[in-house]
Amino acid sequence: MAVVLLLLIPLPFLLYIAAPQIRKMLSSGVCTSTVQLPGKVAVVTGANTGIGKETARELAQRGARVYLACRDVQKGELVAKEIQTKTGNQQVLVRKLDLADTKSIRAFAKGFLEEEKQLHILINNAGVMMCPYSKTADGFEMHMGVNHLGHFLLTHLLLEKLKESAPSRVVNVSSLAHHLGRIHFHDLQSEKFYSDGLAYCNSKLANILFTQELARRLKGSGVTTYSVHPGTVNSELTRYSSFMTWMWWLFSFFLKTPQQGAQTSLYCAITEGLEILSGKHFSDCQVARVSAQARNETVARRLWDVSCDLLGIPLD
Ligand SMILES: *[C@@H]1O[C@H](CO)[C@@H](O)[C@H](O)[C@H]1NC(C)=O
Ligand SMILES: *[C@@H]1O[C@H](CO)[C@@H](O)[C@H](O)[C@H]1NC(C)=O
Repeated sequence: MAVVLLLLIPLPFLLYIAAPQIRKMLSSGVCTSTVQLPGKVAVVTGANTGIGKETARELAQRGARVYLACRDVQKGELVAKEIQTKTGNQQVLVRKLDLADTKSIRAFAKGFLEEEKQLHILINNAGVMMCPYSKTADGFEMHMGVNHLGHFLLTHLLLEKLKESAPSRVVNVSSLAHHLGRIHFHDLQSEKFYSDGLAYCNSKLANILFTQELARRLKGSGVTTYSVHPGTVNSELTRYSSFMTWMWWLFSFFLKTPQQGAQTSLYCAITEGLEILSGKHFSDCQVARVSAQARNETVARRLWDVSCDLLGIPLD
């Protein structure tokens, strides 16, 4: 009994200390920019649900031509119709993209480069979370393969177009979960050890490392890059885990709606004058801290090289 009491005494203290952090986590930054996007072209991956869908809708609302890059084209078409009706913008297009298959990524990029002269905004939004151990068509562990390597290849294939269209931006949707992530170079595909939760965190750390490395590489090109934590959002991302679905439901009162979750991606995609913050990580429409791992340049460079190697991209 006494022990329990002893343990409870510091609790209010801890809550008091953590309060600003908790409030900050729950408050939702809103993108207040009034920038309009007529004549701009945007690609959003995983745009047929959740944050991706809301991000696409907001971009369409501002007049951009928006490509919904989706695995499920039929579902994508329904979403495109919905966005067209809501925004009055007919230039919402659906193209097939399966990030778990490099052939599909290459086909998407080829088609896009043939039909579009420009690309101003690329939102690497699609993601899988906590799925059972599985591999992509190319033999990559699913989280690493889709969340990191798939987007890495996509960004690489579209980079020239982004440069030609500068000023242009790439936004990577990462997560607070990156704090728990580590890059295990000896077991990048989690063949020796697999935890669905950690695999997700690792892939999200990879997203941040890449954003920074890409920012370094793109300095002076007019292409700027940002990684964002969308907030803890009620979305289909938890579809693979009944435990997470259950937890999500329990805490749904605190969770952001997908529309709120889209605000930081949108903020990074369109806010004027953000260029000097290229490579930074954002949460609630503000620059946010990343873990020590995520600031490690050596790891970032090595991951870049290893990723090129895995994807058959020549090193420069
Ligand atoms: C986004 O993340 C992907 C995968 O980690 C990476 O390939 C790409 O370079 C990143 N882009 C930016 C702008 O950070
Ligand atoms: C970066 O990570 C490597 C490998 O984990 C480590 O040896 C090195 O000390 C780290 N560097 C910094 C500056 O933290």
